[in-house]
Amino acid sequence: MEPRATARSIAVIGAGYVGLVSAVGFAAMGHRVELVETDPGRLAALRRGEVPFTEAGVQDALTAGLRASTIAVLEHASETTAGVVLVCVGTPIDDRGHADTDAVEQVVAELADRAPAPVIVVRSTLPVGTCERLLREGAIGDPSRFFLVPEFLRQGAALEDFRHPTRVVIGGAPDADPAARAVLEELFGAFGARLLSVTLEESELIKNGANAFLALKISFANEIAGLAERAGADAGPVLEGIGLDPRIGRSMLNPSFGFGGSCLPKELATIAISGRERGLDMHVTSAAAEANQAHQRQFAERIAGMLDGVAGRRIALLGLAFKAGTDDIRSSPAVALARWLIEHHAILEAHDPAAGPRAARALPGLIVTSTAEEALDGAEAAIIATEWPDYRDLDWAAAREVMSATVVIDGRRLLDPARMRTLGYTYTRVGSPSGEVARAGR
Ligand SMILES: NC(=O)c1ccc[n+]([C@@H]2O[C@H](COP(=O)([O-])OP(=O)(O)OC[C@H]3O[C@@H](n4cnc5c(N)ncnc54)[C@H](O)[C@@H]3O)[C@@H](O)[C@H]2O)c1
Repeated sequence: MEPRATARSIAVIGAGYVGLVSAVGFAAMGHRVELVETDPGRLAALRRGEVPFTEAGVQDALTAGLRASTIAVLEHASETTAGVVLVCVGTPIDDRGHADTDAVEQVVAELADRAPAPVIVVRSTLPVGTCERLLREGAIGDPSRFFLVPEFLRQGAALEDFRHPTRVVIGGAPDADPAARAVLEELFGAFGARLLSVTLEESELIKNGANAFLALKISFANEIAGLAERAGADAGPVLEGIGLDPRIGRSMLNPSFGFGGSCLPKELATIAISGRERGLDMHVTSAAAEANQAHQRQFAERIAGMLDGVAGRRIALLGLAFKAGTDDIRSSPAVALARWLIEHHAILEAHDPAAGPRAARALPGLIVTSTAEEALDGAEAAIIATEWPDYRDLDWAAAREVMSATVVIDGRRLLDPARMRTLGYTYTRVGSPSGEVARAGR
């Protein structure tokens, strides 16, 4: 059953992974939602009733919301009339590693003159200090009705996470309007999660810090996995043994050849910049970002080492999305690997259950097949680059018959090594030794 709160009129600005999920989620809870999207392609898709990206459960929820007229699709934030406005526009990383907050600032400016002033709730991720700057610059119409409630959802499980948040952080100015805060406490309190009332800076930094910590945990797991490979150990039991300590925890300790997405790499960069701007070196987060680049390079080199060079090699790359369950390729290690393989003259055919068309647009020259079997046909080697269950469930016995050689390099530890070897594959994966053991001191 959906959580309950007083039915309200809510505007959601930006129909991306966060905004559209929030819109369909709040509509399913009985609220009326005005959903604003400016991108012509996404707007047209929404007006046809289609979700413009891949995210489990969102299509059914959108269809239900449009059919029940609880969701209206609009083109401009200024057209909204709702008393609560959730700002969910993107804050992408720019060329200098800064999170670009222009879209948030533009929406806030569009809303500044609306009377009566709506309760503005920014859900986009902002580098610490952004809200203080906006207040100082007089960019917020009514600062007492301005809040930052960061979103912590995970793509691939976004709707589930929206419905069951781990916590709700409500950041507001010291003189925040108690009535406006009460509206938010009721709206977000309906999820039953712990509510934290904090300042705007604290709210920004909770989100920055949470993302950065997840990123550095992954980088740490990948670093230990690299050491395991060279020390003749298997990273699986090693990280399980480490993670069983409740002070450490088991999650985010699954080795891979690197992490991507629109959030974690961005946060490491923005934290480093936020520190530098305040005269502080952020050693740990900077190292985690460097490690992530290094792990991706090492994986590419491992592939080249195993194949005795990739030039002229016919390679099937399975997976392009930055993680399973999404078609998002922002900072995807799989796409970076595809680029590297093309630049090093591999004969590459790639597949992804959802992200193929996006990757083909982003990487001219990339051949994307419509099935994994097509990519494997004639390939000397297969690389697992995204942990889609589809690749675990693939008929690897049949694939062996059509591949020209039988090397499988698993960048996500998705497949069962014993089964793959029984099928006759030369199978290696991140975090497990390839055969050669470099013993310290030998
Ligand atoms: N993707 C995630 O998993 C995730 C999780 C938590 C927080 N966040 C944060 O939430 C924010 C949104 O992320 P996303 O992944 O949904 O981004 P996104 O790029 O998928 O979506 C943003 C949407 O906003 C639209 N937009 C931009 N300017 C607009 C305007 N003026 N009016 C209306 N629409 C406008 C864009 O066209 C786009 O569709 C970012 O700050 C991100 O860091 C993302």
